[in-house]
Amino acid sequence: MTSITPEAVARVARATSRQAPPATLVIFGGGGDLTKRLVVPALYNLVRAGRLADGFSIIGVGRGEITTDSWRHDLRAMLDALAVGGGGEFQADCIDDEAWDWLARRMTFLPGDFTQPEIYDKVKALLADQSAKQGRGPNVLFYLAVADRYFGPIIDRLGGAGLTGQTHEAWRRVIIEKPFGHDVASAQALNAQIRRILSEDQIYRIDHFLGKETVQNILVLRFANGIFEPLWNRDHVNHVQITAAETVGVETRGRFYEHTGALRDMVPNHLFQLLAMIAMEPPTSFSANDVRSKKTDLFDAIHPIGSDDAVRGQYGAGTVLGKPVRDYRHEPNVEPDSTTETYVALKLGVDNWRWAGVPFFLRTGKYLPARTTEIAIQFRQAPYALFRGTPIEALPRNFLTLRIQPDEGLSISFSAKRPGQEIEIEAVAMDFAYRDYFEPLSAVGYETLLYDCLIGDAMLFQRADAVEAAWRAVQPVLDNWAAERPGDFPNYDAGSAGPEQADRLIARYNRAWLPIGAGLHRKNRE
Ligand code: BG6
Repeated sequence: MTSITPEAVARVARATSRQAPPATLVIFGGGGDLTKRLVVPALYNLVRAGRLADGFSIIGVGRGEITTDSWRHDLRAMLDALAVGGGGEFQADCIDDEAWDWLARRMTFLPGDFTQPEIYDKVKALLADQSAKQGRGPNVLFYLAVADRYFGPIIDRLGGAGLTGQTHEAWRRVIIEKPFGHDVASAQALNAQIRRILSEDQIYRIDHFLGKETVQNILVLRFANGIFEPLWNRDHVNHVQITAAETVGVETRGRFYEHTGALRDMVPNHLFQLLAMIAMEPPTSFSANDVRSKKTDLFDAIHPIGSDDAVRGQYGAGTVLGKPVRDYRHEPNVEPDSTTETYVALKLGVDNWRWAGVPFFLRTGKYLPARTTEIAIQFRQAPYALFRGTPIEALPRNFLTLRIQPDEGLSISFSAKRPGQEIEIEAVAMDFAYRDYFEPLSAVGYETLLYDCLIGDAMLFQRADAVEAAWRAVQPVLDNWAAERPGDFPNYDAGSAGPEQADRLIARYNRAWLPIGAGLHRKNRE
């Protein structure tokens, strides 16, 4: 007899555009910024899309003088602000009152200290109340929107209060935000701690990059098309560049960032998710475990990163998007002699049959000249032989560029003959922009992630082994950097493309970084 797995249920839910099953979302850190800016706006969008069932409810848990009414009021004010001033998250300049009321009616705030046991009894009592009303044990999704030091203790307390036990009719799941550990040992320790209470299928480790449509589209691009995958290997690919450039500095996050830095903040999580989508082997199916196993395999295949293949940088004062900005060491809550990096560039090698010998260059940084997240795949050049005896001195390079954000889309650059009597070759590009084909979606980027948790599809979440493998891959760099103070910080001006050492790194491999934000899809790139 075949049993109905959560994945089968999830597939049916998607295929039939179904509502997620009724559930209670309990948000620890309910009064915090993440809840206001992302979680609740995403829920509002899910309400508008008809994805939440009538039996859905939200419990916010947090410190401070918050009541259910004041919570609703604050959340609504944030939605209004996002609708008016935001980046088009709602595709409307005002909030739909009916959708908001639907959500607001289902909200309760429980003020309390989540490091103390009492609040868990209150949560338990509220859930028992709900189950008495509904005549069934509620499905519960706990969302840990709190600082990472609380992940373990909250899960311990949830377990202690008997809140994590599942039955056939009601599931219990936990969403854990990033950062998940700060090196191999701490990630292993956290995994061990939480798995004493939860089984792996109850744990949803979020990486918000996987909530981006363009990131999810990489799988479709590769595996739903016959034209790319045959070229996707060392025989055809010259190298890959992954860039996540930001035009913001550390802003008000100095306290967090000082002991995190660009490498921990962006690489083993966000950039590695992009890397995995691009470089992993085709999974046997789109089931969570098949996909996640391929990601782990990829991270395990990353060649130990040598000290010459990692560059760190810290911004000095400069001008970003026309505005003068101060150096990192003068940001709030930052040490005046801080050695925390705000930029990192790496060269990775992947030791497997598909990628051996193909360099992957990754870079990310704060206060760079443009905000862009891009993956550029350069293909090998055509042999010149055919053009012998012609004025052609160099052939343009062929790139496939995936624009993750902004200006979402992709482009392929190739050579064309300029019309005329001479043989002249020019780089041209074919471009696909999402906005040309699809209606913009009302989204803050957490909608799919939340919906997937509710329907039990963990494909877009990190499994324990992949998190640990990713930390293992960057651990040599963390160790090298911890052993040696950078002598030259700050080493790039805010608003520049990063430290010169990063140019030297890639030049050693006879390649060059693409200009940040140059928009490869545009004609006459170089
Ligand atoms: C977060 C990092 O996880 O991702 C931030 O902590 C970074 O430092 C952000 O700015 C980037 O995400 P996005 O979606 O704005 O590219």
